[in-house]
Amino acid sequence: MKTPDIIIAIDGYSSTGKSSFAKLVAAKLGYLYLDSGALYRGVTLFAIENGMIDSDCRIDEEKLENALSGLDLHFENHDGASLLYTGGRCIEKEIRGMEVSGKVSPIAALAFVRNYVDNYLRAAGSSKRVVMDGRDIGTTVFPQAELKIFMTADPLVRAQRRANELKAKGEEADVQEVLKNLQERDYIDSHREVSPLTQAPDAVVLDNSHMTFDDQMDWILALIEEKF
Ligand code: DC
Repeated sequence: MKTPDIIIAIDGYSSTGKSSFAKLVAAKLGYLYLDSGALYRGVTLFAIENGMIDSDCRIDEEKLENALSGLDLHFENHDGASLLYTGGRCIEKEIRGMEVSGKVSPIAALAFVRNYVDNYLRAAGSSKRVVMDGRDIGTTVFPQAELKIFMTADPLVRAQRRANELKAKGEEADVQEVLKNLQERDYIDSHREVSPLTQAPDAVVLDNSHMTFDDQMDWILALIEEKF
């Protein structure tokens, strides 16, 4: 199939499989994949490691804002995988752990943090042929994206999937705790003042509670074929 020069924005709730799906779609179409959540997680790890957020999620906003311009977050491609680095250090494992997951939403609610991430994403996506996943890609980062998908799934199915993912990486994961974490994140993400998670009016909904990756791929390829 001849692939169109478009931006595909994939937004939706936590742990709906956005990143896995976006990666597969990008690989299938030969597009660049960009994981916006990884950047918010990278900023969160930076804040944790530099004592800018405490155990009650109180943030030293001034310190973080001043330090952000010196933070070199970027993706590097290794064996086909896009990994997040800060300077020369790969932080992929650290940013996926429960500590970062528990603190990322308040960090992502800060306007200056969103600005930092948006600038990175807009520069990286300026030449189209990109699949980006997040919460506000189709509403704020690229409102002109030609294809917008809004992903959702049953919360318990999502928690089970996320717990399995963590266990596969050798991390402890209690389904009820994971469920609580993702519901809290969904709440904060949907109710924050700046760029809350909402479905763009022109987004197409994908509820993948009972779909395999193959089902989802067939669905999006048919949609692209029909629209472009
Ligand atoms: O997709 P994820 O779970 O890795 O995202 C981590 C957090 O980052 C999530 O709780 C909300 C925030 N986020 C955001 O606010 N906007 C985005 N475009 C992507 C992620």
